[in-house]
Amino acid sequence: MSVTQEIKSRLDIVDIVSEQVNLRRSGRNYAGFCPFHTNTRTPAFYVFPETQTWHCFGECSEGGDLFSYVMKKEGWDFREALQNLAKRAGVTLDEPDPEAKRRRKSEEKLVDLLTTAAEYFYQLLLFAPQAEAARKYVADRQLNEETISTYRLGFALESWDACRTHFNDQGYSDEELLKVGLLTENPDRGTRYDRFRNRLMIPICDVEGRVVGFGARTLEKDGVPKYLNSPQTALFDKGRLLYGLDSAKRYIREAREVVIVEGYMDVMQGWQAGFRNMVAQMGTALTGDQLRLLKRYTKRFVLALDADAAGAKATMRSLQVARDTLDREVETRFDARGLVQHEGRLQADIHIVTLPEGYDPDKIIRSDRDRWPQLLDQSQPVVAYVIGVATRELDLNDAKAKSAVAQQVLPLITDIVDPVEREHYRQQLARALRTDERTLRMVSLPQETGRSQPSGPPPPPPEDHFPPELNGIAPKTKKTAPSPRGDKRATNLLRQCLEYPRLIIQVNRSLMRQEQQSIGEEDLVIPEDKLILDIIYDRADQASVVTIEELCDSLDSVLLERVETLVALPVSPESELSRLPDRLAMSILDWRLAQARTEVEQLQQLSRGAHSQTELATSMAQLYGPRILELQVKIKWINKAKDAISASGQRRAEQGIDR
Ligand code: CTP
Ligand code: MN
Repeated sequence: MSVTQEIKSRLDIVDIVSEQVNLRRSGRNYAGFCPFHTNTRTPAFYVFPETQTWHCFGECSEGGDLFSYVMKKEGWDFREALQNLAKRAGVTLDEPDPEAKRRRKSEEKLVDLLTTAAEYFYQLLLFAPQAEAARKYVADRQLNEETISTYRLGFALESWDACRTHFNDQGYSDEELLKVGLLTENPDRGTRYDRFRNRLMIPICDVEGRVVGFGARTLEKDGVPKYLNSPQTALFDKGRLLYGLDSAKRYIREAREVVIVEGYMDVMQGWQAGFRNMVAQMGTALTGDQLRLLKRYTKRFVLALDADAAGAKATMRSLQVARDTLDREVETRFDARGLVQHEGRLQADIHIVTLPEGYDPDKIIRSDRDRWPQLLDQSQPVVAYVIGVATRELDLNDAKAKSAVAQQVLPLITDIVDPVEREHYRQQLARALRTDERTLRMVSLPQETGRSQPSGPPPPPPEDHFPPELNGIAPKTKKTAPSPRGDKRATNLLRQCLEYPRLIIQVNRSLMRQEQQSIGEEDLVIPEDKLILDIIYDRADQASVVTIEELCDSLDSVLLERVETLVALPVSPESELSRLPDRLAMSILDWRLAQARTEVEQLQQLSRGAHSQTELATSMAQLYGPRILELQVKIKWINKAKDAISASGQRRAEQGIDR
């Protein structure tokens, strides 16, 4: 039995949910008001003791197991959920892998060192006579004592060895200081010296609030570099961190929105002014990792870009780059196409707001606090924003320029998952270019050939998150009940994608061509698999991919166990690779069909049960009717997509073409 199974077998989801939700019995199950959305009329939240799952049939239309419940309720990530539930269940999480244990130990030691260093710099900033100028600098930037203490701002002395000597005396070796980047080595001369000298020290924490690195600002006017950062290490990876997230997370959840800004100062100034749902991307392009990290707390992201990053030229340039490199992650600060793709994958809602020329949030908030929320109110969805920027200075009499804009914006539009939304933007672009949609459809996009454009599809119903384990309740559906260890189709998908890193992108293309959602967490049942999907997406984004062995080395025992199980399953041979994306897309669609059908049966059963409790009967019918209809439409569209995929496969086979 895996650890998660062990934990689940010892705890009762009904007990845990009851601690926060007033549940009452409804047949074999329990119902209550959903803790994830506000509704005081219909108890749409169900807990199913037999399968140990939950589901909200109301606004959320989401469900899962004990893990997903506590993760959502407490805002925990999988590991936090695991630790907390394990403690509760009295299960000890052992680390059978001594290598992993050793790695964690040394990592902990480095985090300790960094935490101690942050405290050392903080004390210097507060009290050292040499920090007079630094204190004046901070005061000039209007950061108050409380903010300085919250973010543990500090000061590094103007010295080549003060930090080194201090920590050597405390028992830390040069090697450790080098490892965390407090010490720098000149490889030619073999000399070692303090990396940070005469700088304002800004500790950078991971989401749990552990110090993992520093950003250090020069105190000299026009000093270069303006910010000196800790070197990139396993612990400090800028693309996986967001400045301020540890303090901001609970405010992000409360506000149901996160505002992403560029810099440290912006976050601190925002905090001080009471705008606490802010994090900084630290001057780089927003990565998929960062968005996934944030998605634990909210699905709504607002990017506040400075005029320079978001300006017309930069936007067009980054679009061009994104197009040229297909969907590889590009090193620009604003990659619109990447954002649209992430948006689809994560089912997120990304908005953009541009700041006035020459201003950053820090400056805006300091000069006119009330201006900030007003600006945020003006944010636009990514694609609307790009259309606005791209057509702002366009000469509508210049046919070539119009065509260039169409070429640049259309790929973004074709990436939109939702067909209704896609049509909306196609119309918007046509209007902005004073052309019509039909003409736009004829614009040929080099990478997009072969993409079919079904005419006028109706909207697909919202995503369904129904846990397949629910099958177990309805005896009638027993024969289709998937194993509690997940569906073998989803498992196979993960297996193949671990082998072929870019495969997931191709499967998604196949799905999206037929207006179907790309692969997401809801396709997976096992909590570990949801994390493995993240890893798969990471690998697909990376230019150079680590081998599976290297990957296994970097995993802890819980995930390792699952990856090993997956890796033991058979791999499709490379000769099959060209057909694999469609085939996997088909099997995922089958799996989604099975889930949708199960949910329909489940709903029918629940509403039958409700008739005996007359008081509930009407509200139940109101509740379930539309959902059942929605699901039926969904089933129809999945079937249609399957037909289209198999037809295109057949065409290719007849023509003897293999992509
Ligand atoms: N940045 C960095 N290294 C640099 C420049 C910038 O890491 N050499 C990151 C920092 O996180 C910085 C952010 O990019 O906060 C935004 O850069 P910038 O707008 O230049 O700085 P500000 O945050 O406005 O800093 P300040 O207000 O102190 O000038
Ligand atoms: Mn600034």
